[in-house]
Amino acid sequence: MLFEHELAWKDPAVYNEVYKNSIEHPEEFWNYHRHRLFPSECFNAAYNCVDRHAQANPDKTAIIWYGDEYCEYRRISYRQLQIMTQKIASELVRHNVKKGDSITIYAAICPESIAAMLACCRIGAMHNVIFSGFSAATLRERCEESKIVLTMSHASRNGRSMSPLKTVLEAVGSSKSVILLDHVDDFPIEDSCLSYENVNYYDNMFTLYTSGSTKAPKKICHCCGGYLLYTAMTFKNIFDVRENDVHFCTSDIGWITGHSYIVYAPLFFGLTTVIFQGVPTYPTVGRYWEIIEREKVTIFYSAPTAIRCLATVGGSQLDQYDFSSLRMLGSVGEPMDEAAWNWFFTHIGQGRCPIADTWWQTETGGIILAPLCNLEQKPGFASKPFFGIVPKIVNDELVIQEKNWPGLSVNFSREDGQCYHTGDKAMQDADGDIKILGRIDDVINVSGHRIGTSELESIINSLGEIEECAVVGVPHRIKGQTIFVFATTTTELNQSQKESVFQEMIARTREEIGAIAKPEKAAFVPALPKTRSGKIKRNILKTIGAREDINYDSADFSSIVNPECIQEIEKITRLSTIKV
Ligand code: PRX
Repeated sequence: MLFEHELAWKDPAVYNEVYKNSIEHPEEFWNYHRHRLFPSECFNAAYNCVDRHAQANPDKTAIIWYGDEYCEYRRISYRQLQIMTQKIASELVRHNVKKGDSITIYAAICPESIAAMLACCRIGAMHNVIFSGFSAATLRERCEESKIVLTMSHASRNGRSMSPLKTVLEAVGSSKSVILLDHVDDFPIEDSCLSYENVNYYDNMFTLYTSGSTKAPKKICHCCGGYLLYTAMTFKNIFDVRENDVHFCTSDIGWITGHSYIVYAPLFFGLTTVIFQGVPTYPTVGRYWEIIEREKVTIFYSAPTAIRCLATVGGSQLDQYDFSSLRMLGSVGEPMDEAAWNWFFTHIGQGRCPIADTWWQTETGGIILAPLCNLEQKPGFASKPFFGIVPKIVNDELVIQEKNWPGLSVNFSREDGQCYHTGDKAMQDADGDIKILGRIDDVINVSGHRIGTSELESIINSLGEIEECAVVGVPHRIKGQTIFVFATTTTELNQSQKESVFQEMIARTREEIGAIAKPEKAAFVPALPKTRSGKIKRNILKTIGAREDINYDSADFSSIVNPECIQEIEKITRLSTIKV
């Protein structure tokens, strides 16, 4: 059949044929799959991801949750998940929430958070999940449009107890209603919530904030039908999904990976999704591996930072774990270097599980590039476009030619005939396989987290001692990149004053954004290199921060008004960078 694709994963010939058809007849392609996956044209995620499985397979485990400590463990069946979503939906209805309203969720990764997302879908409200590591100030900025915040009073991570509720109260005071998810059992079910709201294909499903090159975070919005169709299709084909798969994705639900491939795609297919609230190294470095062994995980989807960290700290103890249940591995969030790829493939996949290095973004809804036809595995390559996607490399940047795939955020007009610019640098080899090389714009990727340089710079510039600063990402062995601040000061500072200003930078960014955004290195310099129009030349600072050599004989500094500062910055960076 023209668009049948279930074998594409294994056979390049099938992939090529289906791909070609999907590009030549995009509308027919997506319509075909839309009707195949949504025969009744019902696009409500609570129906597709919960109700239909609760009816057909009520006792099947939907969610397995592991907490921070060994003893914390829960299993939630599809029937139980259905009841939880009905209860939370009822509480929202009692708070007068209507279709289209925005609801913020700020809680750790646990079954209640997932049920809360699905409860919003049930009544047609839009959830807006905020990563629980973000500070009160960031939460406040990102929940402005919500009339209600759902949260929990306790959570623990890495051996530390936290209170998301406390942060919520600090952020919103009494200006919004706050609903606690600690005691969902006590919420009575309203009759209206036994069923689900009808939603259209293009109705908004959720919002999610992410960082870009601008100071304000970008609010990305996805629509019910297109998003579900695209995440389901990508998941099925890229991970070769089967009915009894146990899927373990180590992302947080506060990011798009968590939305698409912890919650919606696995539950759409009625699988068991494993979630872990802790960190892989607490209390021991074997947390992921124990979960894989105990739950007989078949698909393990993680990130290069976690892989590099575990390869460094826990490589020698792997023999004691049984990885035989695994069939597929995946990676997302940052470029995966060959060393990390080889370690993952050899030690976790035991040389038999293919690795899907999946490239995509909050804006794209689901995976855009992945090694779809698994005959040749190329370490470090995200390889091939998914069906319907036409990638192209223009001036080193990866662009997607048509903005017509269903998962693309509603923020982008589909009709203007322009390419979608990804902001990522990429190269393509002779086989047409694509390798992602990192961001091309002013976004830093620390451990797979997107951090906008201008967001950070405006916080640091607001410190009294700072005249001006530029923030760049420099290579880091485990995190991929780390944050380096170059700053000029209003008065001359001695060494201990510089140290204390650096500590203040850390404290302020932690307070304003969260621990993921804290700088690790700083250099106090006499001036920042600038163009005639006053633009800071960040690429030079990036080179210096990465300790790469500048070739003064061949470098072209003609656009810079103060090239004399460059050598001085280099010297200061070499001799007196302040580090965490
Ligand atoms: O730079 C790319 C990097 O993560 C960015 C998207 O970040 P975000 O919207 O937070 O979504 C992350 C999860 C989908 C991209 O612009 N990125 C994501 N996946 C990869 C990657 N870089 C290299 N290889 C990947 N597989």
